[in-house]
Amino acid sequence: MKFFIDTANVEEIRYANSLGLLDGVTTNPTLIAKEGRPFEEVIKEICSIVNGPVSAEVISLKADDMIDEARELATWSKNVVVKIPMTIEGLKAVHILSQEGIKTNVTLIFSVAQGLMAAKAGATYVSPFMGRLEDISSDGLGVISDLKDIFDEFGFETEIISASIRTTAHVENVAKVGAHIATIPGSQFSKMAAHPLTDKGIEGFLKDWENYQKKIS
Ligand code: E4P
Repeated sequence: MKFFIDTANVEEIRYANSLGLLDGVTTNPTLIAKEGRPFEEVIKEICSIVNGPVSAEVISLKADDMIDEARELATWSKNVVVKIPMTIEGLKAVHILSQEGIKTNVTLIFSVAQGLMAAKAGATYVSPFMGRLEDISSDGLGVISDLKDIFDEFGFETEIISASIRTTAHVENVAKVGAHIATIPGSQFSKMAAHPLTDKGIEGFLKDWENYQKKIS
């Protein structure tokens, strides 16, 4: 399973990359806006840090405009994957872009039907939003699990990026149902690595070692 980081913050990206855990990056207009720096500069810097796919999102709503934006984004780096919203216009754009060899990530997927349509249009990745579905008491994991089964059944090469991940349990659960990728907020990496029994265990081992050293000296 691949881990992406869901941020446009280069410090968070460098940190996750230094742990040897990072396979790619996803950004969105909200995450870019938080950084307060030019979009192109941020994406190019991220692409220079990470050796993997980096999603950069279009802001147009018409297929022709999305295609123009996507063609420009794709020139920024070979790592760029163009994020396209899940709309009819988005599907049209994905269809054309896939024929041009431009990689796409269809975002804002909230149902199995949406994910299936995006895959059929030629999406490289689909991003079902786990956390936002749970926010409205819907079964985010169910959408991801059903999409995985359907993609396997029909031989789609489209990979599932489990998005809107909020907890360690989200990552564990999407891994269990075979999602190809989880895109994880930067703050979540250290939370996932931690366990109170690990801390307690280290404390106990060090204390016992100290006592043993005293005893043999
Ligand atoms: C996906 O690529 C999005 O950037 C992201 O996962 C959205 O997460 P949120 O629901 O926490 O904003």
